[in-house]
Amino acid sequence: MNLVLMGLPGAGKGTQAEKIVEKYNIPHISTGDMFRAAIKDGTELGLKAKSFMDQGALVPDEVTIGIVRERLSKPDCEKGFLLDGFPRTVAQAEALEGIMTEFGKSIDYVINVEVDKEILMARLTGRRICKECGATYHLVFNPPAAEDKCDRCGGDLYQRADDNEETVQNRLDVNLKQTQPLLDFYQQKGYLRNVNGQQEIQEVFQDIDELLKGLN
Ligand code: AP5
Repeated sequence: MNLVLMGLPGAGKGTQAEKIVEKYNIPHISTGDMFRAAIKDGTELGLKAKSFMDQGALVPDEVTIGIVRERLSKPDCEKGFLLDGFPRTVAQAEALEGIMTEFGKSIDYVINVEVDKEILMARLTGRRICKECGATYHLVFNPPAAEDKCDRCGGDLYQRADDNEETVQNRLDVNLKQTQPLLDFYQQKGYLRNVNGQQEIQEVFQDIDELLKGLN
């Protein structure tokens, strides 16, 4: 099962990815998570990515494509994978096609989580994430039982550095520009499946799950 999860910032990619990888037991490959881990570890990759992420800009294609290619070559991707937040440009999508051909694989579905841009600002500025296990919450739409503590592991919750209003606006502007050409690219390939991301979290997952059952 080789999957790509697409959607604007805040569409719910990370939230749905948690559920998909748990049920289907495939690795979750999030370029955003990989960059944040590199920043935390102070690596060269982290230094390169930080200035772009702080502004809400995209990390250059050559950097991003390189880390995804390396990750997809790992043995745990042999039985499948879920890419989250990659590709984000047509150049990245073309590179992914090349990587798939090189590895003798193909993408099964590109799942596009559709949400009106007007509601994304509220979703992102209210997001909180567990420092320990990475679980995602929302202060209003998906609140933890105890304030600032993770339901799953009791870890402290924090707000992502790029979830302030100004950076979110930039992220939305940048991604809106890139999205339509990418959707056209995958529509033409026949991989694209749109899912209504404005339902309850569990309902969005049910729709995705219906699609994926057909692949197993
Ligand atoms: P990345 O980490 O990929 O962030 P993003 O695309 O901006 O997406 P988010 O993680 O913010 O949102 P999400 O869709 O996962 O939403 P979530 O499920 O958390 O990228 C960050 C940065 O890294 C980029 O800006 C760029 O600089 C760089 N980067 C990454 N990939 C790159 C690439 N390929 N090329 C170049 N640069 C790259 O949900 C959001 C909130 O809404 C949560 O609080 C959640 O609880 C809530 N929520 C979720 N679903 C629902 C629902 N159905 N109803 C109500 N609330 C909901």
